[in-house]
Amino acid sequence: MDIIRVEHLTKKFIIYEKESGLKGVMKSFFNAKRIEKTAVDDVNFTIKQGEIVGYIGPNGAGKSTTIKILTGILTPTSGSVEVDGLIPYQKRTQNAKKIGVVFGQRTQLWWDLPLNESFSVLKEIYQISDTDYQERMAYFEGLFGLSEYMKQPVRQLSLGQRMKADIVASMLHNPKLLFLDEPTIGLDVIAKENIRKTIKDLNQKYNTTVILTTHDLSDIESLCDRILLIDKGKIIYDGDLERIKASYGSKKIITFELKSITNIDKIDVSTFLKKDPDFIHTVKDNTLNITFNKQKLDIKDIINSVLSAADVIDIDISDDHLENIIKAIYTHGVK
Ligand SMILES: Nc1ncnc2c1ncn2[C@@H]1O[C@H](COP(=O)(O)OP(=O)(O)O)[C@@H](O)[C@H]1O
Ligand SMILES: [Mg+2]
Repeated sequence: MDIIRVEHLTKKFIIYEKESGLKGVMKSFFNAKRIEKTAVDDVNFTIKQGEIVGYIGPNGAGKSTTIKILTGILTPTSGSVEVDGLIPYQKRTQNAKKIGVVFGQRTQLWWDLPLNESFSVLKEIYQISDTDYQERMAYFEGLFGLSEYMKQPVRQLSLGQRMKADIVASMLHNPKLLFLDEPTIGLDVIAKENIRKTIKDLNQKYNTTVILTTHDLSDIESLCDRILLIDKGKIIYDGDLERIKASYGSKKIITFELKSITNIDKIDVSTFLKKDPDFIHTVKDNTLNITFNKQKLDIKDIINSVLSAADVIDIDISDDHLENIIKAIYTHGVK
């Protein structure tokens, strides 16, 4: 069943261009240049209940705007959206009960209230039973250790503490859908890992649908089977992550740890470059990094060539980072 339907969704913002200086300000006041900015441009997608979808794109691509429309904060300029049978901007309150939202850039909590009171307010708003509340708080306490700062006002929390609190707040009422807009900003590795675990847990236990935007593509790799790539307001890819990695990820990275780099110029780079113009080698301290196209060069030849020239302590071979793959798609388009 499709829990989210987005059809021909377009959102335009009107911005008024201001001129600088006092004269400019006065001039702009009377006849500022009116510019139309299309943030989301004829976007179509559907999401099934229980899917975890990565919504990714560069800054300004239109991710947050889409999420704001899905959560009822913004009204579309044209097109239609439906979230679990409701039109979010028409039924904001009803929609809010079913969804959990995190905007990493700003908190949904009450700035001046101590954290535990913010949670109590949410308990009342969402009419969560005492048993459910205690059980969920204990679960989140185990993952994030909130008790240390439970009595502090939200405004005194560090970014990482605040993010964890926001995430707990979004999940406290066990929503059917979760919209997470950059939920791992400013978090350490352990907290990130716990958030991923929580998302996976909720998805498996309750079939929670999740839309996630993040700049950390390792979040996407560990959580999402499907990605939506958006660029300049348009969806440029909608499909599974494996396929995109298979068709773009023809590059490999080999990292050699060397005893010394003295003989490194004996490696016959020019032959490799002739066969693979994208062959790159970089040296930093005693580490040699080689990126190459596995369809053009034989990994054995590269390793042999390095082994015969330098004293190698360790070798690591990995696939190209998803980040590079996605950058290539933005630059060269979808195959
Ligand atoms: N309230 C607004 N008024 C004017 N322009 C906006 C507003 N919100 C977003 N935009 C513009 O719309 C585009 C998409 O923004 P956004 O959805 O926040 O991108 P993303 O979340 O992908 O970084 C950007 O060019 C941004 O400047
Ligand atoms: Mg954004």
